[in-house]
Amino acid sequence: MIVIASDHAGVELKARLVAAARAAGHEITDLGPADTGSVDYPDFAHRVAAAVAAGEAGRGVLICGTGIGMSMTANRHPGVRAALCHDAFTAEMARRHNDANVLCLGARVTGTGVAEQVLTVFLATGFEGGRHQRRVARIECAEEGS
Ligand code: RB5
Repeated sequence: MIVIASDHAGVELKARLVAAARAAGHEITDLGPADTGSVDYPDFAHRVAAAVAAGEAGRGVLICGTGIGMSMTANRHPGVRAALCHDAFTAEMARRHNDANVLCLGARVTGTGVAEQVLTVFLATGFEGGRHQRRVARIECAEEGS
């Protein structure tokens, strides 16, 4: 199951991505907001990140104006690897090398068609494991230093 949320800047793109994901056969739950009234992006980033961290959702999608605030917030949750992707290449690498489980998009940066392509690639691409598994495992080991 996929969970998706945005702030006011991402509501329209969110609706397009929900429709595209459902048309492709994915189960996707919209965690809000329902309209373009001004909201604070961390509130919605925390909703999606908490669902992914708890294992309630396998993937999350977050959209704000740039995707930056959403990614900063989501990455505060242990177990969440949120990647701000701008194109199919970054989406593919975020999955293959970083095992990203939350996709962040900037609605004021990335056009609708590219965003749909990014989501498709993000959902279709697997993690390569191997040497990348060791690196991903170290992401949360801040106390180990360099
Ligand atoms: C809202 O104006 C904007 O700051 C927000 O959507 C996002 O870009 C923050 O990172």
